[in-house]
Amino acid sequence: MALLPILCYPDPKLHKVAKPVVAVDARIQSLVRDMLETMYEAKGIGLAATQIDVHERVIVMDVSEDRDQPLVLINPELVWTSPTRHINEEGCLSVPGIYDGVERFDAVHVTALDDRGQSRTIEAEELLAVCIQHEMDHLMGKVFVEYLSPLKRNRIKTKMIKAKREEER
Ligand code: NI
Repeated sequence: MALLPILCYPDPKLHKVAKPVVAVDARIQSLVRDMLETMYEAKGIGLAATQIDVHERVIVMDVSEDRDQPLVLINPELVWTSPTRHINEEGCLSVPGIYDGVERFDAVHVTALDDRGQSRTIEAEELLAVCIQHEMDHLMGKVFVEYLSPLKRNRIKTKMIKAKREEER
């Protein structure tokens, strides 16, 4: 297993659109293990392959309190969204230290393959539903700060660039 470096906003590689996984083989299973390890180490509840510069449709998540219920979504597709939406506070491992409100569907149904290549449908609500929508956005090259006003987004961009510069000093 290996810890993988996480891309930080505004890295342009975060805007690449991920391609579907062709086969859930040993390479993908190894990627999933590394992504889970990286997510747990970073204390995140979700990680999309895009964030570690792999542009294939793979997501790992764990929204459980005890951090013992890993969920793997390969080639996820939204098949149903609730008629209602509301604003939730979100954060992202690619935008450390920034939290802001984003409007999401209250519930979603998603079909995906698991890490053995089995297809299943997940009926998600609350935090899991928000997390799925956030991570699926990553696969489309979208970071949550892009839902915020241009003013806020630019402030965040400046802050991130400055933090990176200080880190490299
Ligand atoms: Ni994120």
